Formats: sequence, structure tokens, C-alpha cells
Amino acid sequence: MTIKTKAPQRGAFLLAMTDTDTISPSKELLQKLKGLESMVGNTPLRELTNVFSKKNVRIFAKEEWKQLSGSVKCRPAYYIIKDAVEKGTLHEGKALLDATSGNTGIGYAAIGEKLGLKVVLCLPENASKERKEILQSLGAELILTSKFEGTDGAQNVARELAQKFPDKYFYADQYKNDSNWKAHYKTTAVEIFNALPGITHFVAGLGTTGTFVGTGRRLKEFNPAIHLTSLQPDSALHALEGWKHLETAVVPAIYDADVADENLEVDTEEAYEMLKAVAKHEGIILSPSSAANIVGAIRVAEKLESGTVVTMLPDNADKYSEVIKKLL
Ligand SMILES: Cc1ncc(COP(=O)(O)O)c(C=O)c1O
Repeated sequence: MTIKTKAPQRGAFLLAMTDTDTISPSKELLQKLKGLESMVGNTPLRELTNVFSKKNVRIFAKEEWKQLSGSVKCRPAYYIIKDAVEKGTLHEGKALLDATSGNTGIGYAAIGEKLGLKVVLCLPENASKERKEILQSLGAELILTSKFEGTDGAQNVARELAQKFPDKYFYADQYKNDSNWKAHYKTTAVEIFNALPGITHFVAGLGTTGTFVGTGRRLKEFNPAIHLTSLQPDSALHALEGWKHLETAVVPAIYDADVADENLEVDTEEAYEMLKAVAKHEGIILSPSSAANIVGAIRVAEKLESGTVVTMLPDNADKYSEVIKKLL
């Protein structure tokens, strides 16, 4: 392993700080990453036949919890790490740092554990006990941030740490990192189009926005006629974990409003009702955001004479025991 050290140039302090700790990519890490690739993505598409039924209109949903780390966020976590290892910005001498209270953190931690890389996560102190335990059991170090500032506050703490200790951390910054949406561009969209070349509509909720932006962009390249619907919570005070109300939140840098043909709003109560209906009639217990995606997909499908609507099920109910206890 060769370490490239460059003498800092005057006026280029920040650039020099990042340059000095870039090393040539670790062959061992790259090999381990290759070995994990088959555990990322390639999730089944399930047709929803009971909660929706209409002649010539079908709804399919991608069961994203059926991959490493149990959620859709395995895809961006893997490609963010792979890209950084290839560039030499992440290596055995650095810890991966990011702000996340949920699935991306679990993705980083699961992959980090397999690669032998340290993972440090900033998360609001009120994140559920269940979440914290999962992250700690995967070996992640947690930095708890103010519950009053939510994930935006956790992002500020992570950014400050990354600036203060550039030689200690690789700051993954999922909200700004192009590998987030590119993961879906390279994998999710390709899997959907290969399985259902006749897809007419794609519907998905916005969090970091990586899923919608990456999948949507690639699907439009495959067939410009595919209609893209993004979904958002109907208010800032929602309980659709993983989703963002963009009007009142810090808008992720990777978001591109031009990708969507249409944007719909989903109410948390509607999603809860769908969660119960899907459990009863389809036999799967989903997370609130997965149920909210189905609400959106059905709303789109109801307006069609014919078509194939595809949506995402980012995760199942495994990490939401408090909500599920109340609902089921
Ligand atoms: C449960 C859940 N649903 C939906 C999303 C939204 O996905 P994206 O961040 O790709 O917009 C996330 C993202 O973290 C999530 O964890």
C-alpha cells in the first residue's frame, strides 16, 4: 500500500488535507467488496393482487428488505463505499462517517463489519432503542446529536467532525454523494426493466431522493414514455420514517426536481391503513414508508385504463416494533 503525500500549497489547505490521506486503492478491500456484490440488490418483484385489482392494470413492488442489511439502503451504502475505496479516499486507516438514523447507517455498518472498516454514525438521540442496538451490534460507533435538530442537526455535527479531522474520517455524505443515486441507476432500474420491460409507471417516495432520482433517470433512458411519480409526506409533522417533506426540510443536493412527471402527497394515517390492509390481504408486514409507496402506486393505477405500475418496498416491519404494536 503506497501513501501519496503532497506538500500543502499555500491557499489550498482544504484540498491538501484531503489529498494527503488519499492512498492507492486497497486490493484486499476491493476483493472483499467484489465478494459482497451478489448480496446487494437483485430483490424479487411481487405483484400486489389483493389490495388492488383492476382489469389490464397491474402493480408490482420490489421487496427491498431481501438483501444484505435488510433494506433498500444496502445499494447506496455499497456503492458509496466501493467508489471511495476505488478512489483511495476510504481505506483501512480511516473510519467511514455519516449522519443517518436508519437504514443507510445499518447498510454502512453491515458492509463495514464485513470489510473490517470502522463506521461512525451521527444520529439524533431520540432514534429508537431498537435502531441503536442494531447499529451497535454491527460494531458501529454512535455519536448522539440533539433530538431538537433531527437528521439536519446530525448532518451538521458530521460535517463539522469531517472538517476538523480530515485524516481520521471519510465523510460519506449520502445527501450529496452521487454514488447514492447512481447505485439505483446501475442496479434498481436495470433489475426492474429486465423483469418488466412493459413497465409504464414508476412510483417512489423521497428521502435522500437517491432511489427516485437514480431509478427514474435510468428508466426514462430505457423508455422515455415511462411516467415517474415522486411521493412526499403531506406535512412536516409526518411519521413516514425515511421520507422528507422537502418544502420544510434541507433539500438533498442530489435531488433533481426535473426527474418527476408528477408529485403526490401521502398522509401518514393513510399509510397506516394500507400497512394493516397489506398485512391482512397480502400477508406481508411492511414499514410505514413501504405502505405509503403502495398508497401512491394505487392512486396512480386507479387512473389508468391499462398499465404496469412498479413501486418500491424499502423495508419490512422488523425495525418498527413500536408502530406495529399500535397498529396490528
Ligand atoms: C424506510 C425508508 N423508506 C424510504 C427511504 C427513501 O429512500 P431514498 O433515501 O433513496 O430517497 C428511505 C431512505 O432512507 C428509508 O430508509
